Amino acid sequence: MVMVSEHNVNEKGHLLIGGIDSLELTKTYGTPLFVYDLSLIRSRARAFLATFQEENIGAQVAYASKAFSCIAMYQVIEQEGLSLDVVSAGELYTAIQAGYPPERIHFHGNNKSVDELMLAMEHKIGCIVVDNFYEIELLKSLTTKLNQKVKILLRVTPGVEAHTHDYITTGQQDSKFGFDLINGQADQAFQQVYKEEFIELLGLHCHIGSQIFETVGFKLAAEKLITKMIEWDNVFGYACKVLNLGGGFGIKYTEQDTPLEPSTYVKEMIIAVKQLVANANLEMPEIWIEPGRSLVGDSGTSLYTIGSEKEVPEIRNYLAVDGGMSDNIRPALYGAEYDAAIANKMGTPKKVDYTIAGKCCESGDKLIEHISLPKAEPGDILAVFCTGAYGYSMASNYNRMAKPAVVFVENGQHQLAVKRETLEDLIRLDLPYHIEKGRD
Ligand code: LLP
Repeated sequence: MVMVSEHNVNEKGHLLIGGIDSLELTKTYGTPLFVYDLSLIRSRARAFLATFQEENIGAQVAYASKAFSCIAMYQVIEQEGLSLDVVSAGELYTAIQAGYPPERIHFHGNNKSVDELMLAMEHKIGCIVVDNFYEIELLKSLTTKLNQKVKILLRVTPGVEAHTHDYITTGQQDSKFGFDLINGQADQAFQQVYKEEFIELLGLHCHIGSQIFETVGFKLAAEKLITKMIEWDNVFGYACKVLNLGGGFGIKYTEQDTPLEPSTYVKEMIIAVKQLVANANLEMPEIWIEPGRSLVGDSGTSLYTIGSEKEVPEIRNYLAVDGGMSDNIRPALYGAEYDAAIANKMGTPKKVDYTIAGKCCESGDKLIEHISLPKAEPGDILAVFCTGAYGYSMASNYNRMAKPAVVFVENGQHQLAVKRETLEDLIRLDLPYHIEKGRD
């Protein structure tokens, strides 16, 4: 086994994923295929948790399962002792079906329905992250009706928005999520819940953005939330037990990306919170975080079969694969960038500049613009790296493309985690036309 630009390669020049020949995986399961190397997920999970333990800080690390969820993934996350963030009845139901302990589930969302709140209460989940005044009203009436207590966090918008190296602080944040911390909404929400018999307010939550490479935004947000905690402590004698600083820790999609280690994000957060809390003479709250991408993003690789090629002289060579925006919308939606390799030609010199196109009926269906690869032939396997977060979970059936299969790899073994959709699956919800034709 040798390394070719950070990837393990066997003597045949094939890409290895978790020690397994990627070509063996595509032969067994077909393409397009998502492959997750579980060892990476486990080591990230452990790194987040260990840092809190080393610093002796009460904490919960909740996997933001919007990044990728299925029963098997929930089971792996559960084994690592993480908590779980869900945002819909669908995610909650899947987690329950996976046997996830409800008390470790946190429920998010800016428009939770009565049915969703009822499902959460029925399973007595650990915490509901309350987002708006309508939800407060719903919770008051449901908890009273069911004579059941719920634990909540209030989601606030701290006016700090972070993205990669940029962060901005705005007075009034234009966000559909949460209670504004500055214009009085957060105070109003607090007053509506803190004395409620059936509502236990654990503390505050914020999420400042995604794919963040610096800690300054988290520290700023912590400062804003703790300022509010101090105020509520002074005025109402309210002791905040939990400070949830959300997710957003970055990963390395391409050479340009410079993420920090999980331990660095966590350590710097802890230092900032400890200091702010000590200055105000407050009890140290638990710190909760919600990583999604940084737990599963770079453990995932998409494998495609290469098909047609089209040369646009002096502009680009299109190389088409058997998937595309239907299994990875991120390039089309956000201009996201990825790195890739031809999995069966890892040792072959890169000689051709390609643009990787998908097979959906849309000119914007390009996965990668301008990447240097070995000369490709039909039947070669293209591996696109770092597709583990927001790839499968944002997949669609556009053009009635079937969703790919998902495979887990660990300890030299592999297993199907999600089956490939079949043509029959694609029509399973369709009903034939049956309105009686009127006479004319
Ligand atoms: N917590 C909350 C409340 C969130 O809204 C999110 C992400 C996370 C945690 C996890 O963030 P992460 O650690 O994964 O960055 N579809 C976009 C990302 C949307 C993120 C939405 N919220 C993408 O593909 O980049």
